[in-house]
Amino acid sequence: MTPRSLLAAAVLTCLASASVFAQAPIVIKFSHVVARDTPKGKAAERFKELAEAATKGRVKVEVYPNSTLYKDKEELEALQLGAVQMLAPSLAKFGPLGVKEFELFDLPYIFQDKKALERVTNGPVGRDLLKKLETKGILGMAYWDNGFKMMSSNRPMHVPADMKGLKMRIQASKVLDEQMRTLGANPQVMAFSEVYQALQTGVVDGAENPPSNLYTQKMHEVQKHLTVTNHGYIGYAVIVNKKFWDKLPADIRTQLEAAMKDATEYANKIAQQENDNALEAVRKTGKTTIYVPSDAEKAEWRKVLLPVQKTMEERIGKNLIADVNKATAAK
Ligand code: LMR
Repeated sequence: MTPRSLLAAAVLTCLASASVFAQAPIVIKFSHVVARDTPKGKAAERFKELAEAATKGRVKVEVYPNSTLYKDKEELEALQLGAVQMLAPSLAKFGPLGVKEFELFDLPYIFQDKKALERVTNGPVGRDLLKKLETKGILGMAYWDNGFKMMSSNRPMHVPADMKGLKMRIQASKVLDEQMRTLGANPQVMAFSEVYQALQTGVVDGAENPPSNLYTQKMHEVQKHLTVTNHGYIGYAVIVNKKFWDKLPADIRTQLEAAMKDATEYANKIAQQENDNALEAVRKTGKTTIYVPSDAEKAEWRKVLLPVQKTMEERIGKNLIADVNKATAAK
């Protein structure tokens, strides 16, 4: 080759790699800890589809389910460090990050139904809580629903007294710790990915989960009894690394926000049905006895657990709990 054609080839190579570089998609790694076939797993996949379509491929969303990248605590650290860009941890997992007000969602019987929950997540309380994450370098984008929790173990649990002495796995929330102690159980904080094995080997006796989580982790195979207590709630905050978000081109941010809005509607639409289906699927396996407490028993669970709202006032904030109770009471 002549020096001239060499130069031309070099220029062409540079141009080609510059255009490849310009077209390289922005990658959003979205890590979570539950199975694909859960409300959160499905909503994450829906967000991926919507985001990639809306940005015409300028953004690529890689979803990593089932703790394949990180477990509960690590994923929050990874988000802050920028190793992943997006997560949807359960609201019970923000306490260790220093935003303990989120633990209000763990208070037993704080939401009488999903309507009451929505009044909180869609109102000023929900908005202000997400705002609090910004001091941690995190932007809160949305709330995704899952469901109400049920108690499981290898012992029938009809009334609160049946929980005495059980070693119960909990998420890292002081409210959940207090809840289990109030029942006379021994709470053990454990990452979600470790629960199945801990139940199987007897490291813990039981757990509290919405049916979708219990079923997709096959916990029903190692738990003989499930009581439909619906005593507490599990939902999620979808969060992004704020630095990453602020650096995105404005048009991409707008497209991603629209994709998140639609994915959120989808998540909140499917959650209850997914849980109803999962409970039915557990019933069909015949491996776990599902117990529905009588009205009198339900009243007893409430009577024993409601005082946790008072005990946890100092941690969460008396006014905040009052605001939540006001919002949930509103029609
Ligand atoms: C749990 O740890 O039990 C849940 O937070 C898992 C999840 O993300 O639903």
